[in-house]
Amino acid sequence: MRGAALAATTAATALLYRKLNPPPLETPKGDKLGNVSKPSSESASKGFTVREKLTALEDITNYNNFYEFSTDKGSVASEARNFVTKPWSVSVEGLVNKPGTFEIDELAKFPLDERVYRLRCVEGWSMVIPWIGFPLSKLLNIVEPNSQARYVAFQTLYDPKRMPNQQTSVLDWPYVEGLRLDEAMHPLTILATGLYGKTLPPQDGAPIRLVVPWKYGFKSIKSIVKMRLMAEEPPTTWSSYAPNEYGFYSNVNPSVPHPRWSQARERRIGEFSMRDTLLFNGYAEQVAHLYSGMDLRRYF
Ligand code: MTE
Repeated sequence: MRGAALAATTAATALLYRKLNPPPLETPKGDKLGNVSKPSSESASKGFTVREKLTALEDITNYNNFYEFSTDKGSVASEARNFVTKPWSVSVEGLVNKPGTFEIDELAKFPLDERVYRLRCVEGWSMVIPWIGFPLSKLLNIVEPNSQARYVAFQTLYDPKRMPNQQTSVLDWPYVEGLRLDEAMHPLTILATGLYGKTLPPQDGAPIRLVVPWKYGFKSIKSIVKMRLMAEEPPTTWSSYAPNEYGFYSNVNPSVPHPRWSQARERRIGEFSMRDTLLFNGYAEQVAHLYSGMDLRRYF
């Protein structure tokens, strides 16, 4: 994100990073993928499947923002290739009736959907990614948020041995993010455990990451180990780093420029010409009601 302006203006960026080969992906077996739903027109109207050309797997897995491994998008895949994601558990705690710790194998048994979403990075590039995952609401309903819970805080693993760039102070670790509870419960908000029909590769946030398609990509926190239901808005990594540049909401909005660059247009990775950025990244029909009455310039 620090080199965002440069990235946003470099036409051949995606091609540059094709030089690295994606690591072999483990193919989920048995019912892990047996219950993936086929895209239907119903799924398109809910925003679950955009009918746009998919970004190449090679680009999705070799052009990454994952500062725990590298700040160089083209090096994340190689730096993360030996990342060990088993055993792994996710604890869900705070203002809930039934706090719990969920092993990754348990989470992998949740009925999985394929969701073809646009991902719009705050830096000005975008992709279309076929995720495999399940609605975050399914997990939250199990722990039963209590009546005081208004926000969900998310935390990435902190383990500088396994995530070597955490030995630097490029960001405050661990990476943290947050959503309002109604955003977290929205059917478009998923926890992804795979993409392109395969297990999530380390560089894309293995073994489990958040995907919130109407918000800038940095809200979609990777390699999650903890969620906490809270009454107050939780601190988030990028808004703590630069509060005037990255807001808590960070809804994709072409009319609200980043202080250092416009957000009106974007470059789809794999394409050369720019395209218009859509309000809420094209998901306005599904999510605009969450923000009715809110000044989106103030709550950027
Ligand atoms: N999560 C963690 N833990 N660390 C990160 O550096 N980068 C974010 C987000 N999640 C990031 C993260 C940013 S800026 C973006 S654009 C997306 O991940 C990129 O996801 P991708 O590499 O799978 O495309």
